[in-house]
Amino acid sequence: MSDFLLINGPNLNLLGAREPDVYGEATLGDIEMRCAELAEALGHRLSSYQSNAEHELVDRVQQAAKDGIDFIVLNPGAFTHTSVALRDAFLAVRIPFIEVHLSNTFAREEFRHHSYFSDIANSCLFGFGAYGYELALQAAARYVASTRG
Ligand code: DQA
Repeated sequence: MSDFLLINGPNLNLLGAREPDVYGEATLGDIEMRCAELAEALGHRLSSYQSNAEHELVDRVQQAAKDGIDFIVLNPGAFTHTSVALRDAFLAVRIPFIEVHLSNTFAREEFRHHSYFSDIANSCLFGFGAYGYELALQAAARYVASTRG
């Protein structure tokens, strides 16, 4: 059994109400519940965290290393395009992670095309909506199985 952590960044607490045409109808609570069920079905544990504050996200990533988290599923929200600090936290802890975006950021404004995380992530999922989180968990389970033999 491995420990997974789902991290969502700013404004993702508003999912369901926030631009549903872009981000879908599911709330963050719906997504976290579905992901917890899926992680359990895959034989793993999942904890979830959301913050609108950059420093809190950095602190949570640092704490994940102390807690022995095996894999992180990350949607950095708008910090995707701005946060060197959060990128550095991932480089520091070296916990493998998948970057997830509900929307296909490459089909949107130019400023959303660059991510501070894609080049250091194990892999990235863009534009699958809430299903992207489930795909990421399936991939995380496969990854930990392959590294543990
Ligand atoms: C997002 C894409 C970001 O550009 C945006 O700032 C978000 C959500 C997504 O999941 O599609 O907050 O990360």
